Amino acid sequence: MKIGILGGTGPAGSALGARLAEAGYDVIIGSRSKYKAMEKVDELLERWPDRTLPIEAGDNAMAASADVVVIATPWDGATQTAASVEEHLHGKIVISMANALTRIGKEFQPLVPPRGSVAASVQAVIPDCKVAAAFHHVPAKELGDLDHPIESDVLICSDHEAATAMAAELVHAIPNMRPLDAGELSQSTPIESFTSVLLQLNVRYKTRVAVKMTGIPDETNTITDLPKKPTRASVAASNGSDEAETTPSE
Ligand SMILES: NC(=O)c1ccc[n+]([C@@H]2O[C@H](COP(=O)([O-])OP(=O)(O)OC[C@H]3O[C@@H](n4cnc5c(N)ncnc54)[C@H](OP(=O)(O)O)[C@@H]3O)[C@@H](O)[C@H]2O)c1
Repeated sequence: MKIGILGGTGPAGSALGARLAEAGYDVIIGSRSKYKAMEKVDELLERWPDRTLPIEAGDNAMAASADVVVIATPWDGATQTAASVEEHLHGKIVISMANALTRIGKEFQPLVPPRGSVAASVQAVIPDCKVAAAFHHVPAKELGDLDHPIESDVLICSDHEAATAMAAELVHAIPNMRPLDAGELSQSTPIESFTSVLLQLNVRYKTRVAVKMTGIPDETNTITDLPKKPTRASVAASNGSDEAETTPSE
């Protein structure tokens, strides 16, 4: 399965791309400039010479042609970027990891984009896609360090069961990361906003925090406990038709 990352040249997208490539997915690092993406891919391959990472470079349109597409641009470029490659996205699962934040003095503050979140804004501009929000709280530096797994939960929300399941599959493929189904896409508002709290903690404690929820036993949180167990074939099928569509998870 191919995963395309729009804005994949940044720390977040390239780190996720490296992790997913290590997990066995074919990854396309997308960019507004294919040349910039080529430089980023060279950098990743040089950093991990002993690993065989199936990563290639492309422009954002090429990345959008993948089976599943991740949006890893800054928040104010996310909807415009999705709209610019809309013709390649029809019906696909699109995962938004963008956070709308600003820094005022020493404080990180959440911004509220139209429709309450970046993910909801993206869903509005590509209405026939299945948008999930995920990966907002995972620090890029640690995510990109393939020698060290990150102990982290990843909160996922979507109005489409297939999108939640696909995002969960990707999270599940990364060692020590646990997918949690946080509900409908409206939950992306608090999920994205909460990132400012984490960044504030990073500043205060001179670290990079990750999120871990207590009270949910690990053994109940495998991907099989999500509303519908995804298979790569079923996700591909759901990309091509709406047959896999069901009501949002409760
Ligand atoms: N950094 C983290 O630790 C982290 C963790 C989780 C989530 N996130 C979220 O993930 C997203 C990406 O984070 P990042 O730190 O990688 O960001 P970034 O470096 O600022 O941007 C990522 C890439 O987006 C493209 N881009 C920049 N401005 C754009 C615009 N106006 N329109 C379209 N594309 C644009 C650039 O790629 P090209 O120039 O190659 O097109 C850039 O390399 C952010 O929304 C962030 O909130 C970040």
